[in-house]
Formats: sequence, C-alpha cells, structure tokens
Amino acid sequence: MDRSKDLDGAGCYGRPCIRYQEVEIIRMGLLKYKRLASWFALVMLCASAVVKAQAVNDRPGKLDRFTPGAIWTDNHGVHINAHGGGILYNKGRYYWFGEHKIEGSAGNRAMVGVHCYSSKDLYNWKDEGIALAVSPDSTNDIAKGCILERPKVVYNKKTGKYVMWFHLELRGQGYKAARTGLAISDKATGPYRFIRSYRPNAGFMPVYPPGTPESEQVDCAHTKSKSEGFFCRDLPGGQMARDMNLFVDDDGKAYHIFSAEENFTLDIAELNSDYTAHTGKFTRVYAGHQTEAPALFKHNGVYYLIGSGTTGWDPNPARCFSAPSIWGPWTYHGNPCKGAGSELTFGGQSTYVLPVAGKKDAFIFMADKWAPRNAIDGRYLWLPIVFKGDDIEINWLDNWKLEVFDKR
Ligand code: GAL
Repeated sequence: MDRSKDLDGAGCYGRPCIRYQEVEIIRMGLLKYKRLASWFALVMLCASAVVKAQAVNDRPGKLDRFTPGAIWTDNHGVHINAHGGGILYNKGRYYWFGEHKIEGSAGNRAMVGVHCYSSKDLYNWKDEGIALAVSPDSTNDIAKGCILERPKVVYNKKTGKYVMWFHLELRGQGYKAARTGLAISDKATGPYRFIRSYRPNAGFMPVYPPGTPESEQVDCAHTKSKSEGFFCRDLPGGQMARDMNLFVDDDGKAYHIFSAEENFTLDIAELNSDYTAHTGKFTRVYAGHQTEAPALFKHNGVYYLIGSGTTGWDPNPARCFSAPSIWGPWTYHGNPCKGAGSELTFGGQSTYVLPVAGKKDAFIFMADKWAPRNAIDGRYLWLPIVFKGDDIEINWLDNWKLEVFDKR
C-alpha cells in the first residue's frame, strides 16, 4: 500500500483526511513513543527476570526437586559452594559442609575455608557462611593456600560439641603431607576452631574380621605387597590420611574412613568417645586396590561403603562394598551405578551418602562433578539409592523428588 498517497489525501479510507506533514509529525512522535515503549518493555522484562530469580531463591520451599548436574543456587541465588561435602542432620535441620572453591585452577587449593549451608527440606539451602576459615598465618597448618578437602561434621551428644574432620595437605607441599585435621565448634554453623592435624594410629596394627588367616595379615618383618610396604613404612609416624568421611553408628560410636598407604588401601578407624582422636583400633578395606572418595552408611543392620577408583579429578567407575559389621569382612560388589554413563559414575565422584530423616529406606548418593580448571563451577549429583537385597543400585535421573522414596 502506498501510504504517502493516502496520507496526502488521495483516499482517506472513509476517515477525515489529515495533511502529510501533520501525519509525519504524529508518525515521528508515535515512532519515538514506540521506541520508548520497547525500551520500557525491555527494562521491565529484565527487572521482572531479576525479581523472579530472586523469588526462586529467596522464598524457602521454592525449589521442589533435585536436578543433578545443574547449577544449584542458595537463598541469595548464588551457586552453592560446598564441594567434597557431607551433611549433618541436627535438631530438625540439615547442614551441608564442603570445600569453598574460588574461580580458576587456584580454586583447587583452600583460599577461603569450609562453607556451610542449612536446609529443612534438602532442596532449598540457606547460606550460613564460612564455618572454618583458613589462616592468614603462613606457618599455620591450615594456612591459606593449603589443600583442605572433604570436610565432614558430626555432633557429639556427650560433649555437646560439633566436630569437624577433613583431609589436609600442608601449604606448598602438594599431596605429600596426607594428614587429617580436626576443628571444633559449639554451634553447628561455626565458627570452628582448628585444633590439630596429624597422621592417625601411629604404632598400631590393624584388626581383622574373625577367621582371617595369618598369611593375609600384615607382617612388617615380611611385607608381601607394595601397600603393606607403605603401611609398615608409615607405622611409626601414623598412617597417611587423604580422601575421607565420617560415620556415626547407632550406638554413638564414630568412625573415620580414609584412603591410606599412598591411596592403596582404605582404613576404617574408630574415634574416641569425644570424636576428637583416634583410638588406635582400625581395619584395612580392599587392601592394595586404590579406593578413594569413601562414603559409609548403614541400612537394615548392613554396612555399605561406596567409593571410587583413583583418577584424580577425572571420573571413574564407582565401587561398592557391604559388611555385616563395621570391622568386616567387607564384600566387594562392583559398580552400583547402572545404565548410560554409569561406567564413569555419571561424571561424578562419591562424597557422602545421606539418610533422609523420617523416611524409610531413603538414602541419597551425593557426588561431585569436579571442574578443576574453574573449581568454583563444580556441580553436585544427588541420586536416590535403590536397595536390591543386600546390594544397591544407583540410576541416573534428570530430576527427581523425595517422593521417589514413598513409591517403593
Ligand atoms: C581426587 C580426590 C579429590 C582430590 C583430587 C585431587 O581423587 O577424590 O578429593 O583430592 O583427587 O586430584
């Protein structure tokens, strides 16, 4: 259509005609208005997106499902920063403790400390800040720039203290120190006070499940394997203690599970009644087979242990064990993950198994999907555990709700 003709009055479509110049003025005005209106709409759209994003995270109860591998935001809309983490359930609230990472590969070292979040429903997490801060003093065991990994917290009913253990590598020494560190607080969220770090169980020999032939027990006069060699080498100064977890049994006894002997073997070691020291009683699990990332839990009287192989930040197949007693014998069950992606634990590495409070047979497998080049971008894979007799299965789900546990 030739608008100029029409505007010039050649045909006014039955409406009163106006002159072109007049119309042009109105048209320009309208155009300006249109442009302004578009800008206004854009600004409003952005503002509403921001409000919406805040609303998602500010209102507790807003997230209603787990989305493994996705960015998981806290109450400030910030990606949760608690890697290699574990959960404490205490007085009706869950507390998630994990490594606070920063951007880039520098984030693989501890530049800040241990971050804590709390939640009532496991989907929505409130930022509780840094529970244990690294020290600005370069001579301190937990000096900024050290490696502080896989922190876990348990509550000691007898002392009323919250007790944190973690894997510690002294600043500037790579992974050589292989120590465990202890920190204590009067409050779940901290601040935690660093107590000491050391290699546990110096001078103690392991215990074995009844019936273990003598030929299968470590004899430091005649070591039979590389891992036994490492064990005996470390006997006087204490065992190496790297990837780790904690487990509190129904009788209130607590255990420290850690990779020892240059990561060749896992140790399960008893803690004292305050949970602040090792008693010297421990057992070696799957000796010589290099298990990391241990996560121990108990279901219907059976102990389960999930771990990984030893490929650093890269994923590998998970492995699972079960035992009638924490002292063994531990039976190897292979990879509990099933289906596509299971051969690499869906891209993750175990960090904890969480019993869901108040739900029967409800355990969540928690794993880290590491991002070593930009550590802060590490993701979390939480998946439900399925029990199959005395065995377990973990299947991938794009998203899921706690109700999956009710449908069994
Ligand atoms: C992994 C371990 C992590 C971290 C990493 C460093 O195998 O599970 O916690 O230590 O190695 O490469």
